[in-house]
Amino acid sequence: MPLPSDEKLIALSEALIAGFDAIFGVHPGFRPAHAKGVLLSGRFTPAPGAAKLSKAQHFVSPSTPVTVRFSSSSGLPLIPDNDPNANPRGIAIRFHLGDRQHTDIIAHSADGFPTRTGAEFLEFLKAIASSAPGAPSPTPVEAFVGSHPAALAFVQLPKPAPESFATEAYFGVTALHFANAQGDTRFGRYRIVPEAPLAHLSDEQVKTRDANYLLDEIRARIAAQPVKFDVRVQLADAGDVVDDATIHWPETREVLTLGTVTLDAMVSDDAAGQKTIIFDPIPRLEGIAPSDDPLLELRAAIYLISGRRRRAA
Ligand code: HEM
Repeated sequence: MPLPSDEKLIALSEALIAGFDAIFGVHPGFRPAHAKGVLLSGRFTPAPGAAKLSKAQHFVSPSTPVTVRFSSSSGLPLIPDNDPNANPRGIAIRFHLGDRQHTDIIAHSADGFPTRTGAEFLEFLKAIASSAPGAPSPTPVEAFVGSHPAALAFVQLPKPAPESFATEAYFGVTALHFANAQGDTRFGRYRIVPEAPLAHLSDEQVKTRDANYLLDEIRARIAAQPVKFDVRVQLADAGDVVDDATIHWPETREVLTLGTVTLDAMVSDDAAGQKTIIFDPIPRLEGIAPSDDPLLELRAAIYLISGRRRRAA
């Protein structure tokens, strides 16, 4: 996939990567965000209702192979799983549609995002970078969240550590535009919901866990039985804002189940696989188009630039 030609977009993408580097340090061969992760494999099977929303290939085919990467937040490849800064967790799902053809879902375990645009997110990162622990109050980051209500809401959102990657729910946050074979269209946001009951740890409980408790747990769980997630989509009503990741839609909106991801194996060449795979927030297939949310195009550029740097390391 080529990089977009928009020079401003590329400059902002590079500045954001540099912003993560400034906070976490440069760790060649690893992601500047969601650096610590693990790969699993399995398949996706669509629910009967999926094709009513979208004609996308994986919603019509009986079964599509998937690769999933679970991750912890931060640009630290060795962040302990029990560190509060490792939340929110991430899931990235690659649907293998054919030879070198794929589409992805990227989601994290917080239902929201602190800023509407990448430029604002860069301000947020710079404020974090210049707010050393113990700095006099108000620190730059306190001033930023004080003047940006969406950032304050995101910071205050509870982000408890999960018992397991398989007991966490993940949110796609940015809206996408779905089209079915009849040409009907709806906007929606993905939700990846585990088959296992949601389970989280208290701050006290998580302190007693090991630095790799999530990685160890998912390996043990998969060895015993497959791990399943519903792929669901929260559908917008006419009039809902569909280009702003900071705005929630009412919980009364319809949530449609699109199918099930069943994971049944760890990926054997995990480190090499994580280094190579570059997930893309833009679906790039018939039946699912991006919305006008500015984070989509920007993140597609960032993940590609960052992924190329990682592969070259
Ligand atoms: C301005 C907005 C954002 C910026 C600047 C940003 C930045 C980044 C960067 C630099 C990476 C590493 C990419 C790579 O090297 O492959 C990353 C990965 C990731 N981001 Fe974002 N991100 C943003 C928004 C989001 C949102 C809205 C979500 C949740 C839906 C999200 C979830 C993730 C996840 C799960 C990963 C790990 C993907 C993987 O496993 O490869 N990010 N992000």
